[in-house]
Amino acid sequence: MEPISHPDAVTVGPGQGTRRHRDCVPRDAPALCAIYNPYVTQTTVTFEEVAVSPRQMKRRIAEVTRRFPWIVCEQNGAVLGYAYATAWKSRSAYRHSVETTIYLDRNRTGEGIGTELYRTLLARLRAQDVHSIVGGIALPNAASVALHEKLGFLKVAQFRQIGLKFGQRIDVGYWQLTLS
Ligand SMILES: CC(C)(COP(=O)(O)OP(=O)(O)OC[C@H]1O[C@@H](n2cnc3c(N)ncnc32)[C@H](O)[C@@H]1OP(=O)(O)O)[C@@H](O)C(=O)NCCC(=O)NCCS
Repeated sequence: MEPISHPDAVTVGPGQGTRRHRDCVPRDAPALCAIYNPYVTQTTVTFEEVAVSPRQMKRRIAEVTRRFPWIVCEQNGAVLGYAYATAWKSRSAYRHSVETTIYLDRNRTGEGIGTELYRTLLARLRAQDVHSIVGGIALPNAASVALHEKLGFLKVAQFRQIGLKFGQRIDVGYWQLTLS
């Protein structure tokens, strides 16, 4: 499955609230670290435990975007959040299945930005002939569960006490969207 090129950014929302969705580029790395690292160091939302450097983030962007979309949402030049897809598993018969990830600036959650961003990502995945999309959610995470279910994902699994962070054993649930 080859990535397809996308010439344009998408504009979302009216007037002052206008936001732009565009492909992530390496120079977004510091802004992405600023969004992601507070979740790494202060929450159990992600199972990473060490803050990611801009250099590491740049490598991740380069790696992911060789095959899959990585979309950022910006408003007035500031990055508010990002969403991307990675291969679900590496064996060849999984080639039409991806796992998706989304993070917003902690001060900009609950405004509909996640819904917009995920919709753009899903449209890109659909255009790329992806068939199955999986979202893994460390529980509890009411906002993420609500977002996935709003967009049609169904819960398919829950691994018990699969993570250990800040001395807590954490469950991870999996939600799946099958594209027709
Ligand atoms: C999860 C996340 C991406 C959701 O994006 P968001 O912009 O906050 O969500 P939206 O405002 O688009 O809301 C989507 C739905 O979730 C609901 N929702 C949002 N926050 C909620 C909360 N804290 N509790 C319950 N439902 C919530 C909304 O009501 C909405 O449903 P509705 O349209 O039927 O009312 C965002 O909150 C985030 O970045 N969280 C921290 C990082 C994270 O958890 N990432 C996901 C890792 S799996």
